[in-house]
Amino acid sequence: MAHFRHGFTRPLADPALPTVDAVIASERPSEPVLCLRPAVIADAARRFVAAFPGDVLYAVKCNPEPRVLRALWTGGIRHFDCASPAEVRLVRRLLPRAEIHFMHPVKARPAIAEAFARWAVTDFAFDSADELAKIRQETVPVELVGTPPALGLFVRLALPKGSAVLDLSGKFGAPPAEAARLLRAARPHAARLGLTFHVGSQCLDPAAYARALALAAEVIAAAAVAVDIVDVGGGFPVSYADMTPPPLAAFVAAIERGAAALPAGVRLWAEPGRALVAGGGSLVIQVLLRRDDALYVNDGVYGNLSDAGALGFRFPARRIRLGEGGEPAPLARDFALFGPTCDSADRMKGPFRLPADMREGDWIELGQLGAYGACLASRFNGFGAAELVEVSDPPLLPSR
Ligand SMILES: Cc1ncc(COP(=O)(O)O)c(C=O)c1O
Repeated sequence: MAHFRHGFTRPLADPALPTVDAVIASERPSEPVLCLRPAVIADAARRFVAAFPGDVLYAVKCNPEPRVLRALWTGGIRHFDCASPAEVRLVRRLLPRAEIHFMHPVKARPAIAEAFARWAVTDFAFDSADELAKIRQETVPVELVGTPPALGLFVRLALPKGSAVLDLSGKFGAPPAEAARLLRAARPHAARLGLTFHVGSQCLDPAAYARALALAAEVIAAAAVAVDIVDVGGGFPVSYADMTPPPLAAFVAAIERGAAALPAGVRLWAEPGRALVAGGGSLVIQVLLRRDDALYVNDGVYGNLSDAGALGFRFPARRIRLGEGGEPAPLARDFALFGPTCDSADRMKGPFRLPADMREGDWIELGQLGAYGACLASRFNGFGAAELVEVSDPPLLPSR
């Protein structure tokens, strides 16, 4: 695939980007191909930034591919939520004017020190007094010992388990009374003080944000100190084959309703990942063998399809068969997919709806894989690599 290889650089707005079908027709790839739609990502960013009543931070973990980050910048994203030194370095080198926020509540000391001293990061999240102490100790400006740095300190609030597809309530976050204590403890050391939470990823219920904001308002009242920012986190959903969430406007309306309970002057932030990039990526895989309604394919749960495994995500699917043109679509049938590794857990039950006459050699394009796809791939059994191409197609499912 020399022409389309990963290192091949095309300008983002190149109208000559190929379609997915053209790439497959010309390259006939026997390895998985990641198809990136920079224009779709830039558009999703533009729409989110226009709709959300506050600053929008992109959660880099969701897809750290440099072309994705550049497309987001083109779409107006200026803030980046990083969780590791590698993410901080990547964003600072690629987008020197970006505002970086280190929003992981538990960090290694050298990670805090490097982010602060080397990359000028001043915003940090925490959910314990011990982590607050670490942040304070590791952010003493070398040239100004004795002068407190202008830190942004963000207390991560624990939320009760909600109905999001991916629950994130079990690992991070201080319970309300402790969060109030942490806000009080941090206030004297913070140039800006924030409260942050995450309702869970792929949250289908707008009211979850309103409930979380009501709790945030209670915590702020209990803390009885001025809070500058409430960060409503990520969780904004996208469509999958079996899920059509409410539109973004319904989430914004719920957030605006919930935010009315906050003290006057509190600014809002959000940290979307999935909602900005899912539609901007798809994956083309090839059928190696058919056995009844099971298709053995060349990528799987240890590669770019992690979320189709235990989590059972049903990505929208379409068949690509060379020479197939305008004839009527053959009858559809539900298929399960088996990945290429030797592990029997490498199975994606789907079901994925595809033409009934699927056979060896057919390609399948799976959509909505711009989020939590390539970034989760391992090289187990020697599989998991994928070529990256930029394409001009619309996403397989419309954005919400
Ligand atoms: C702190 C934080 N912010 C934002 C996100 C992005 O979430 P999502 O992709 O659901 O929008 C995550 C995802 O795990 C996260 O942990």
